[in-house]
Amino acid sequence: MKTLILGIETTCDETSAAIVRDGYEVLSNVVSSQIDLHAKFGGVVPEVAARAHLECLNPIIEEAIKTANITSPAAAIDAIAVANCPGLIGCLLVGTAAAKAFAFAWQKPLIAVNHVQAHLYSVLLRDKGTRGQGDKEKNLPLSPCPLVTLPPCPLVPLSPCPPPPFPAIGLVMSGGHSSLYHVHAFDQLTRIGQTQDDAVGEAFDKVAAILHLGYPGGPFIDKLAEQGNPLAIRFPLSHLEKDSLNFSFSGLKTAVLYHVNGKKGRERDASSLTLQQKADIAASFQRTAALMLTEKIRRAANRFPTRSLIIGGGVSANTAIRKAVTDLGHELSLPVFIPPMRYCTDNAAMIAGLAHPLLLAGKTATLAMETIATV
Ligand code: KG4
Ligand code: ZN
Repeated sequence: MKTLILGIETTCDETSAAIVRDGYEVLSNVVSSQIDLHAKFGGVVPEVAARAHLECLNPIIEEAIKTANITSPAAAIDAIAVANCPGLIGCLLVGTAAAKAFAFAWQKPLIAVNHVQAHLYSVLLRDKGTRGQGDKEKNLPLSPCPLVTLPPCPLVPLSPCPPPPFPAIGLVMSGGHSSLYHVHAFDQLTRIGQTQDDAVGEAFDKVAAILHLGYPGGPFIDKLAEQGNPLAIRFPLSHLEKDSLNFSFSGLKTAVLYHVNGKKGRERDASSLTLQQKADIAASFQRTAALMLTEKIRRAANRFPTRSLIIGGGVSANTAIRKAVTDLGHELSLPVFIPPMRYCTDNAAMIAGLAHPLLLAGKTATLAMETIATV
């Protein structure tokens, strides 16, 4: 018996709805990015984000249902899943209110999904696009509500990807989180480390701002770093105490600021740098961030029983970090699971995906389900 789940994601600045079959086969995943709305502010404005979710969510859910070729959603869809934590509270409320309304109207089970944990689940998602299509579509300028529809499912169902051997060490790297987990199953995780200041994605975004690159900064740094020398500048590595599994990125960010703007942070700015100098800074920063992240994965794998490594979240799209984690897997003789590019950043497919094992385990929510900003 096939299970179809409608997933809804509105935790930050991406409005997304998806239909996923049996927890892995993505029939549709529609993502509307608010990047253009927030770019002029250099970061996400929570009230603007919540309002944009409100305007976009219904058409996006409709689009997800249509793309999945579902003609009678009330009959065909088995459950409604929504990211109810963590995230911006106004944004979360839009998604959870919609999910409750659909669950009530269609009399379907409601499933509350932790957005950060869902990022790790992305490694199991499969669709036509994972074989190379679609990623380019992500930046299409579409208006007024920019829908990015991923290709519909292939006619022949895909087989599920083999799941990572558990227990695993999982690292979620995003704009809001740098969280390290000991993973027993996708719905049974123990957090063993987190950032003490900036999230790694935040550091990428701030360094990009220092270098006068665009927003969000991660993809710009990644691209520019291709032409740079990662060994050009030795930025300080912060590993915290010898046994710590936590992260700290604010020192690295400040080191870049002083390098670019001078010791007081405002003697000069990036406009005096050549493109090559900027590329060297981007590559050196990226290398340092990758070293800091992989060191904590190494420590965790040495301390906890570990049979595989999993990464997820927007920053797991980064070329140097994907390579560094892959190399670490070779070094430790552990298989490494990395999501396809399109499922690194926020998407509803991962929400509908992780909801499947939760539904099978009877972990459903009631209409009194809460939204939680931080967990
Ligand atoms: O997971 P995500 O889409 O949203 C949150 O849950 O926060 O992550 C967004 C973050 C942003 O900070 C963005 O700059 C970063 O992911 N990012 C990258 C890359 N692509 C996105 N960072 C480094 N390299 C990339 N290629
Ligand atoms: Zn995220």
